[in-house]
Amino acid sequence: MIRNEIIDAMLARKSLRRYEDRMPSDEVIETVVRAGQQAPFAAQLGSVLLSRGPKNVPFGAPLLFTICIDAHRLEAIMAKRSWPMVTSDLPLLLFGFQDAALMAENMVMAAESLGMGSCFLGGTPFRADEVIERYELPRRVFPLVELTIGYPAETLPPRPRFPMDFHLFEDKYPDFSDADIEEAARVMDEGYLAQDYYRKAKAMVKLEGDRAETFNYDDYSWTEHMGRKWGQWFPSPDVLLEQLEKCGFELRGPVRDSDADSDRPG
Ligand SMILES: Cc1cc2nc3c(=O)[nH]c(=O)nc-3n(C[C@H](O)[C@H](O)[C@H](O)COP(=O)(O)O)c2cc1C
Repeated sequence: MIRNEIIDAMLARKSLRRYEDRMPSDEVIETVVRAGQQAPFAAQLGSVLLSRGPKNVPFGAPLLFTICIDAHRLEAIMAKRSWPMVTSDLPLLLFGFQDAALMAENMVMAAESLGMGSCFLGGTPFRADEVIERYELPRRVFPLVELTIGYPAETLPPRPRFPMDFHLFEDKYPDFSDADIEEAARVMDEGYLAQDYYRKAKAMVKLEGDRAETFNYDDYSWTEHMGRKWGQWFPSPDVLLEQLEKCGFELRGPVRDSDADSDRPG
């Protein structure tokens, strides 16, 4: 495999959950955000909110960015040319997810290049209403994900990934054999166990109901963690649809007709 400075930085990146109590300079912050902005976009549908920590910021990080899907700006620009937004909210949000995610990852790598680390926080959409209040968001802005950034206070190895033949499928998606799946699971589980990752993070997901615990940190690893996480967590889709509606995005109805009733700006 070819190695260079950029590839090495990508391969060494890992989520950082311990930060030095050192505030990056305004120039550093601006650089990270500007590099994020230069990501490919469908319609510049990503925008960024910033709060400075470490107070009230997860992991005591100095910087908390909230990455938003922002149709408010695009619609304002379109309105100047007398164009209404006709595209419905589902395709708009799908493109918005992509714009926002690509931008966020550019920020992550820019931060890495400046000696910092980062961690995403995926619970943001479930408390979009709190974000609306905190930042006085106008309608048509949806907080997608939060991103802590700062200087590392821990040194960690990068986490494993699936083997390449379980990830890249040229010309045709394969039929996986049991052996393929077992091998991918083995690579992930052994990789996490070698780092003692879940013990150090104290991150065993509890079994729900009356299922008896049969794992300990000697054998609890990534595949069991994924199973417990995604096999037990079921937030009602209504919760997210409601939060999207609070942000002025309507996925349940055919057209938006409630925007005019809003007493929020935008
Ligand atoms: C959309 C998204 C949401 C995430 N949410 C959280 C989170 O709420 N808390 C957390 O500690 N890490 C979170 N992470 C970080 C992942 O746990 C981490 O990226 C993954 O385990 C792979 O580890 P690595 O980033 O160190 O390679 C999130 C990552 C993404 C991309």
